[in-house]
Amino acid sequence: MTTPTIEQIYKHYSVRSYKTDPVPREMVETIVAAGQRASTSSNMQLYSVVAVSEQATRDRLAELCGDQAHIRQAPLFLAWCADVSMVHRACELRQHQHVASSMENFLVAAVDVALLMQTATLAAESLGLGMCYIGGIRNNPQEVIDLLHLPKYVMPISGMTLGWPDAEPNIRPRLPLDAILHWEKHDTAHEDRALHTYDRTMVETGIYDGRQVPVPGKEGEMEEYGWLEHTARRVSRPNRVHLRKVIENQGFALE
Ligand SMILES: Cc1cc2nc3c(=O)[nH]c(=O)nc-3n(C[C@H](O)[C@H](O)[C@H](O)COP(=O)(O)O)c2cc1C
Repeated sequence: MTTPTIEQIYKHYSVRSYKTDPVPREMVETIVAAGQRASTSSNMQLYSVVAVSEQATRDRLAELCGDQAHIRQAPLFLAWCADVSMVHRACELRQHQHVASSMENFLVAAVDVALLMQTATLAAESLGLGMCYIGGIRNNPQEVIDLLHLPKYVMPISGMTLGWPDAEPNIRPRLPLDAILHWEKHDTAHEDRALHTYDRTMVETGIYDGRQVPVPGKEGEMEEYGWLEHTARRVSRPNRVHLRKVIENQGFALE
């Protein structure tokens, strides 16, 4: 079963090499306006996006976001933000007390911006553009906030490079469907089989360059570095521990 939309979705791959051709401003407006059509909690639209085309700013953003070369190269960088500044203003105008100090309100804004940016992504890809999310925007969030003049109640959630792909399509396989789709109750019965199958699938893509790692619990034995080791390493060390403080400074208390 398929549709043109589903076919488009299946063509997605993150682009990390771009042509120098610019993305016309009108096209950016079309893409972001399409993103706005996504559902949004209580129609509050708790988001905003800063589009950066100036080379000097993109160079600085590249430094701040983990020195990723495609941020310098792509004609456009988009900073997607959770933004409650407008509802804060609505409270002032209507003489209500804005309660920004809740985890719930931050989560609502983070979900809203995720839906905005992914819907915009689908629109962009349907026009032949390529993109890559930049979680590196949270490496040095205070510097990004200063650079882009983000006011209180605006927190960058993800960056994005956008432009015309200069790379071969590289479609990354996903987990087997039965690992993530459960019917009626969550069920982990097939979890290990799914994880090992996927580990093998990812090794076979060649993405990990045939690296070897010790087999846990079997001294002297080696096996291929795969998705399991890659993912376990990523979540077994503290990451961006400064984030809570910056989020709170922007006006979102995580109580
Ligand atoms: C929120 C988010 C942040 C990401 N940050 C980065 C990043 O900083 N640099 C990068 O090269 N890719 C980044 N990615 C891209 C993922 O690595 C990529 O989506 C994933 O490996 C799956 O590959 P695919 O998009 O090609 O299917 C990010 C993706 C998401 C959703």
